[in-house]
Amino acid sequence: MPSRILIVEDEDKLRRVVQLHLESAGFEVDHAPSAEQALPRSGIADLVLTDLKLPGMDGLAFIKELHARNAQTAVIVMTAHGSVEAAVEAMKQGAADFLQKPFSLEHLTALIQKVLNVQRLQAENTRLREELDQRYQFDSIIGRSPAMREIFQTVSRVAPTRATVLLAGESGVGKDMIARAIHQHSPRKDHPFVKINCTALPENLMESELFGYEKGAFTGANTSKPGKFEQADKGTVFLDEIGDVPGNVQVKLLRILQERQFERLGSNLTRSVDVRVIAATNVDLRAALEEGRFREDLYYRLNVVPISIPPLRQRVEDIPFLALHFVRKLSKDLGSTIADVTPQAMDRLLEYDWPGNVRELENTIERSIVLASGSVLDASDIRIDNSRQRTAVSPQAPILPEGTTLEQWEQAMIREALRRANGNKSQAARLLGLTRNALRYRLSQMGLDNGKEAEEGTPAEG
Ligand SMILES: Nc1ncnc2c1ncn2[C@@H]1O[C@H](COP(=O)(O)OP(=O)(O)OP(=O)(O)O)[C@@H](O)[C@H]1O
Ligand SMILES: [Mg+2]
Repeated sequence: MPSRILIVEDEDKLRRVVQLHLESAGFEVDHAPSAEQALPRSGIADLVLTDLKLPGMDGLAFIKELHARNAQTAVIVMTAHGSVEAAVEAMKQGAADFLQKPFSLEHLTALIQKVLNVQRLQAENTRLREELDQRYQFDSIIGRSPAMREIFQTVSRVAPTRATVLLAGESGVGKDMIARAIHQHSPRKDHPFVKINCTALPENLMESELFGYEKGAFTGANTSKPGKFEQADKGTVFLDEIGDVPGNVQVKLLRILQERQFERLGSNLTRSVDVRVIAATNVDLRAALEEGRFREDLYYRLNVVPISIPPLRQRVEDIPFLALHFVRKLSKDLGSTIADVTPQAMDRLLEYDWPGNVRELENTIERSIVLASGSVLDASDIRIDNSRQRTAVSPQAPILPEGTTLEQWEQAMIREALRRANGNKSQAARLLGLTRNALRYRLSQMGLDNGKEAEEGTPAEG
């Protein structure tokens, strides 16, 4: 597509000559004898070539107005011989370059080409930067891994709609953040975002919290109170830990999702709300489904757009970017001078498996910054809290050693206790937290209780 050039020159002859020359050079050319006539047509021009001395609005005011309307338009000014000061002034207003009259047409074409090239590069640069920001970052949510990029895409697509979203992922992966981002990018953003932590509410309170109650609905209900759904009207309700919602509340949630209707506790009046629902869970809801703890119909109503956020250990490529993001952010908050991470420190962050996900990484960086000195975090500054990893019993880890039955394990413990107690049964029983009789019973089951020997070993016992 040829570039479009708008010539603004009150001198007819010069305007005509330049027009013909630029047209023969392959440009699409538009022209006007004054700024007033040029302005309405300036929007589609890639470049404006303008005289500085114009009837009516002068060249400088024209440039200012042009850039107010479209900062992208490149401007070249033509000035009378000897008026360099005016040209400098025009450049300050944002003109890309200037030509002193009289100029050669070859010079003009070369200059236009140059300015257009620079403009194209700048536009390309801006576009790439915007695209990068969009792909790698959503608000301040960092993620370069394919999984996170896909999540950003889904979020952009789903945010403008009212579709129900079900966020799944381990604790600390960023479910809250994504829920808020969806709200922020939706037409509901100027209305409330109401978060309800379903775990924090005892069952009998949950219903009144969600749907509100009328005066006298239960002992202590001295006034009427709207519930969270009413508070969120026209906005978004975020149901955190949806898997913990008790059955009777599940039925009411189903109705809200289907009909957007509910009643306050102690009231027959059916109310309507306009809410978008986002739910989150850090357990696999399908297991709850199979066990009958979660209604299937509610699950399908919630799972319209499922977004599953993988744990951090499954997207290690995000770790360096998250780490730097937190170093910069937290360093500023904490008034620290630390601004970077050494490659060795980064290695330590990459080696760890982050059971607490992004939240744990954030806390680790914070602790490390507080305790470190200097301007970079080195490997020795990284304070990973391994305690939770050592004590946590992973649900997949076997409780008993491979191939051992509980009975075999118990017998092995009893033999070990006897060995340590040198055959003294009372002492062995104490080591095992058993009474002497309980131990003797077990020993007889094992065929090891020959009574006599036992008494020999415990002369003091009566
Ligand atoms: N991709 C990310 N970029 C930047 N910060 C993140 C990202 N993911 C999570 N965080 C940060 O990690 C912390 C935990 O995130 P968030 O509260 O959203 O997790 P969650 O999945 O809701 O956890 P939980 O299940 O415990 O409620 C927050 O401080 C959040 O700002
Ligand atoms: Mg959360």
